Amino acid sequence: MTQLYFDHAATSFPKAPGVAEAAARFLGEDAGNAGRGVHRLANRAADALSHARRALAELIGAPSARLALAPGATFALNAALQGLLERGDRVVVGPEAHTSVLRPLRLLGAEVQEVRSDDVLRWDLEHLAQLLEQPTRLVVVAHGSNVTGAVQDLAGIAARCTASGARLLVDGAQTVGALPLDVDALGVDALAFSGHKGLLGPTGSGGLYLREGLELRPWITGGSGSRSHDEAPPAEFPGALEVGTPNAWAFATLSPALTWIADQTPAALHARTAPLAEALRAGLRALPQVTVFAADQPQDLPVVSFTVEGWRPQELAVTLDALEVSLRAGLHCAPRAHRRLGTEPDGTLRASLGPFLAADDVAEFLARLREVLG
Ligand SMILES: Cc1ncc(COP(=O)(O)O)c(C=O)c1O
Repeated sequence: MTQLYFDHAATSFPKAPGVAEAAARFLGEDAGNAGRGVHRLANRAADALSHARRALAELIGAPSARLALAPGATFALNAALQGLLERGDRVVVGPEAHTSVLRPLRLLGAEVQEVRSDDVLRWDLEHLAQLLEQPTRLVVVAHGSNVTGAVQDLAGIAARCTASGARLLVDGAQTVGALPLDVDALGVDALAFSGHKGLLGPTGSGGLYLREGLELRPWITGGSGSRSHDEAPPAEFPGALEVGTPNAWAFATLSPALTWIADQTPAALHARTAPLAEALRAGLRALPQVTVFAADQPQDLPVVSFTVEGWRPQELAVTLDALEVSLRAGLHCAPRAHRRLGTEPDGTLRASLGPFLAADDVAEFLARLREVLG
């Protein structure tokens, strides 16, 4: 039986061509400490970071000087929220918000307002404009929902933020690499992302883009490999965030994925998965016991949540794993989404697709699910 890995929204698998080889090569040949020596191994590790930074910046339309390398979206979101907000600031989020946004906001004592959405979690931009009539420091939006796949109208959201003076932080965990994105053209203030999802690279890689002219209050600090006589934390982005030994292994490993994605283009990769997602939604909707929670516009992500009458999501995920089907079950770290969808407390099953799957895999998944449901 072939393994059907339908959990790409958690992490991509398989990774892009060349990623596994680069991982072994770095640890076997190049594993110096970047920025902490003048010898060749340290230099090769530093080159790996520079290469990844340039390739990432190019992919999102940013100058590389405005991109901090980070261990993942969670770190990048914390850095942005802790660095931009003061205690008690008013912040607008959507029902799709991830706990990596909601928990830092709680820690910061932010006054959180939730924008209304439709039943696949797409934002109501009229309501956003109304919310922004009150002074608001920040709007935080997940570009793509990890529950319904809904992709938000970033240009529309950015325009309303600009009109009201609120800043816009985009959680691109699900979309960077998976969809075309140009931060400069969109007027986004900050964008956080992971390297292990749409970018098809390893865990431990990611980044934060911050618009020219914005700075973050230091939130984490430590060794930077330079100016060690000075006990004051480095203040300038991106160096201020890149403290401690950098994970050069992760970024050396991410690099072949970035080259591959740039060659293929995110638009072409999305065009590959979109018809599979359509077939998946249609196949699930044809099953009378199944309720589907998924956005189905051409730009939406191949992420499909569903519930099945008579089954708890966790139980069905375990049953399907025995048939070599990998799905995620539960709340997917997006508690407000389930409040909006009416899928509390158990959440949903989630099938999410990657660019190496084919139409036959979706057909086979539906066949195995039908076999379980009888
Ligand atoms: C929408 C969204 N935001 C943030 C994150 C956090 O990403 P990471 O766990 O890679 O830091 C995820 C991960 O699932 C996500 O789906």
